[in-house]
Amino acid sequence: MNTTSYPLSYQTVGHLGDSEFKLQSISTDLSLRLPRNEDIPVILNILQNKANSEFDKSISEATSEELEGIARRWTSLPQPLTYLNFLIWHRDTPIGIAGLGWIGATDGDEAESNLSRAGAAGVILEPVARGKGYAYEALRMVFDYGLYGLGLVEIRVGSHSGNVPMKRLMEQSFGLEAEWNSGDDSGQLAELEKA
Ligand SMILES: CC(C)(COP(=O)(O)OP(=O)(O)OC[C@H]1O[C@@H](n2cnc3c(N)ncnc32)[C@H](O)[C@@H]1OP(=O)(O)O)[C@@H](O)C(=O)NCCC(=O)NCCS
Repeated sequence: MNTTSYPLSYQTVGHLGDSEFKLQSISTDLSLRLPRNEDIPVILNILQNKANSEFDKSISEATSEELEGIARRWTSLPQPLTYLNFLIWHRDTPIGIAGLGWIGATDGDEAESNLSRAGAAGVILEPVARGKGYAYEALRMVFDYGLYGLGLVEIRVGSHSGNVPMKRLMEQSFGLEAEWNSGDDSGQLAELEKA
């Protein structure tokens, strides 16, 4: 639902939960689609590529079985939503993953979670698809859908402090400043709220 005049970056096709559901980018040939069972090998390839996981130990240190479990979980949606991950398609080619790896109550109180829910967003692009603005576009669609489609009040993006491409994406493309946590390598790169 978009009750403001804010121009969304996507058009929806179908409804969330339908197998045909997708977010189609308005300005590019990208679409975000819910992973299906037949997409699990593609997702595994993306997660197992060390070039995609060097800054994310939860992926790089996971076993094949654990990664397959993650990929399989993404093919169905929990109710209420606690995550929503998409496969990024450029025309008919899957090129990465983008979505909300976590959705939950802003204050940690799940009983009140319908009132005020937030999300944590992320994006992974296959190396061959980088440097073309696709990560920016995919993340923009995730932000817009999270805030205006799902009604989240806030979306955070976290990353390792050494992740220069992600830092550039957030700071240069989105114009958002990083807030680094002291004492560890994780950073909160951005916190978005409705325009
Ligand atoms: C983080 C990551 C997604 C960034 O990908 P990316 O390709 O650099 O980001 P974009 O797709 O937005 O591309 C931006 C670059 O494309 C260039 N570009 C080319 N055409 C463009 C266009 N039409 N629009 C915007 N940018 C364009 C930009 O100039 C920019 O280049 P620069 O970084 O040299 O300034 C990628 O490095 C990745 O997948 N890393 C591994 C996974 C990861 O660490 N994810 C983050 C954890 S959440």
